[in-house]
Amino acid sequence: MTSTYQVNPGGALSGNLTVPGDKSISHRALILAAIAEGNTTIQGFLQGEDTLATAEAFRKLGVRIDNDGDIVHVEGVGLNGLQQSSQPIDLGNSGTSARLMTGLLSGQSFDSELIGDESLMTRPMQRIVEPLRLMHANIQCSDSGTLPIRISGGSQLKGINYELPVASAQLKSCLLLAGLYADGTTTITENESTRDHTERMLATFAHPVTRDGNKISVKKAEKLIGTEIIIPADFSSAAFFIVAATITPDSDLLLKNVGVNPTRKAMLDIMKLMGADIELEDERELSGEPVANIHIKSSQLEGIDIPEELVPIAIDEFPAILIAAARASGVTRLTGAAELRVKESDRLQAMSDGFTAIGIQTDVTDDGIIVSGGEFNGGSVNSYADHRIAMAFAISGTVAKQPVTISNCDNVTTSFPGFVDIAKQAGININYA
Ligand code: S3P
Repeated sequence: MTSTYQVNPGGALSGNLTVPGDKSISHRALILAAIAEGNTTIQGFLQGEDTLATAEAFRKLGVRIDNDGDIVHVEGVGLNGLQQSSQPIDLGNSGTSARLMTGLLSGQSFDSELIGDESLMTRPMQRIVEPLRLMHANIQCSDSGTLPIRISGGSQLKGINYELPVASAQLKSCLLLAGLYADGTTTITENESTRDHTERMLATFAHPVTRDGNKISVKKAEKLIGTEIIIPADFSSAAFFIVAATITPDSDLLLKNVGVNPTRKAMLDIMKLMGADIELEDERELSGEPVANIHIKSSQLEGIDIPEELVPIAIDEFPAILIAAARASGVTRLTGAAELRVKESDRLQAMSDGFTAIGIQTDVTDDGIIVSGGEFNGGSVNSYADHRIAMAFAISGTVAKQPVTISNCDNVTTSFPGFVDIAKQAGININYA
């Protein structure tokens, strides 16, 4: 039995809202805390299944982590203090955990095996296996390039120069973490920018990386130093409410303490090109990450051709952005987004199927989608067990003519525990069906 949401039309979004902590930053805080010297406290940690999977992985590797529901205390074991897990490490639905942990575990003296849920077991891992082998890791994945990954420990890694063949922060971060254990320097060239949370977090743990243009270098680490971290609210979770408040008439919403790292917030540029009314207020910095309150008022949108250079730095926001596009006048074209096919679902196809169900016309292409804006009739949408597809169609419901029901919503808890309650608080008429 998996959960189904029903969203009834009407309502407007108003007031102040705080969404849970940033998923990407929570993973990185925990990973570096585990291998740091001394204790780390993490405030605002995302209590979602994905980040809890990372915490569980480290417990299996011998790290003491106390989680009181908001603040997480980690007793760092140092770079070489992890211990072999007696069982395979199950990373659930979390691609970030799988790819980052593989990089980290490639540099250890012991063997590891990584597995995940049905969706994660189909996601591409060859992209990390190949460069890790170039670094002399002894690592195997399945013949189809997926989990399970098996790492034979004890290889002394070597730094490499590597140009990322796909714009992926998970791949970059995997190699930076392996680079902490590699002789010499590991240099990664990224031709399109991707989220830089690992780079920032390494600096917070006193092991700065250097950046020269689009080349990022990390040296073998002597030690990381435990610290106190405050994690901002997740921009990718805020994105659903940014769109909901934009497309729902008479809305005026303030989202508080949201991470607005320039390598994450390109969705705001895309929404503004469409005509959205969004302001950043009280901009500041928390634990090396830019943070702001985001003020959104409803507005009429127009379809656009989405600039391709913004795609990798808005990659998780496309389910939400496409809902906005579907309410805009005219046509919106997304190109250069083939990576959306290998997320928790094939997000291009999943969005198109959902749009068909609620009466919006789309054409899916190899690397994108063309959306013709219009009225939402309402209907039944399958989220394909993808958290972001579920939340995207949930926010379509306020402006539909009839209720929208979304099935297969359990995985929303991977990134956004409490979504239904927070959506209700914002003014969306949502309930479990
Ligand atoms: C993430 C990177 C992105 C993103 C994912 C989180 C990260 O994946 O889609 O949700 O935390 O590094 P890719 O690196 O595969 O683009």
